[in-house]
Amino acid sequence: MHRREVRDPVVEAEGIAMAFGSNTLFRDVSFGVERGEVFVILGGSGCGKSTLLKMLIGLYEPTAGRSRILGQDLHAAESDARRALLAKLGVMWQSGALFGSMTLLENVMLPLEEHTRLPPAAREEVARVKLGLVGLSDAADRLPAEISGGMAKRAGIARAMALDPRVLFLDEPSAGLDPITSAGLDQLIKDLARDLGTTFVVVTHELQSILAIGDRCIMLDKQAKGMIAEGDPRELRDHATHPTVRAFFRREAM
Ligand SMILES: Nc1ncnc2c1ncn2[C@@H]1O[C@H](COP(=O)(O)OP(=O)(O)OP(=O)(O)O)[C@@H](O)[C@H]1O
Ligand SMILES: [Mg+2]
Repeated sequence: MHRREVRDPVVEAEGIAMAFGSNTLFRDVSFGVERGEVFVILGGSGCGKSTLLKMLIGLYEPTAGRSRILGQDLHAAESDARRALLAKLGVMWQSGALFGSMTLLENVMLPLEEHTRLPPAAREEVARVKLGLVGLSDAADRLPAEISGGMAKRAGIARAMALDPRVLFLDEPSAGLDPITSAGLDQLIKDLARDLGTTFVVVTHELQSILAIGDRCIMLDKQAKGMIAEGDPRELRDHATHPTVRAFFRREAM
């Protein structure tokens, strides 16, 4: 596998292995994500993509290897440094998980309450701007149960962006969205990366999204228990020789 040098990595993984008990998901996973890049993690269901994200933000310890974010090892950092570092990251989980009893506006304001000393009016102002970025200005006062799945995804992204994170981790942001909403989300991700220099680490299965937004990607594989591809998704589509990688990018059955 060709590995490109990354000069100014924002996220680094070196020789990462993850296991739950005796179940090794993958080993020897290494990559670097550059500032302002949209980096995509691919692979079949159950290969460990969500687990890898959770490890990167410090929720799980790797069984081997180490990772850094913005130059710091979250796993080794003292609790104050960890907290400061975590405040620079935004995460949207696969399950979305908005608080059901709070309006969208209140959901987006929550991280601002936890991590800033902004007065309430300023928190509301910031939260409204974020909802505007994802096209939900008109739904600010609705409860999660009163909106569609796609709107919930976008609200989750607005909440993840509340603190202007340097790095945004998105776990399957467009799963279950219609193609037009999904394309709108892709455009938003590209705009944020380009205009704000936000770095994205995105788990997605949507081939069109990957080709539209991904500067680079890695592909994990359950059988191989590790990475089977790394690089520019368009090049992988045109030139990959590994059968699983080819099948994925060309939508072929194996
Ligand atoms: N906390 C945990 N304890 C034990 N096993 C776990 C835990 N979390 C995940 N697993 C197992 O690890 C494997 C990988 O899970 P993970 O959620 O990372 O997969 P994924 O690649 O994100 O899949 P999907 O595409 O379906 O979201 C699965 O077999 C899962 O059952
Ligand atoms: Mg997952």
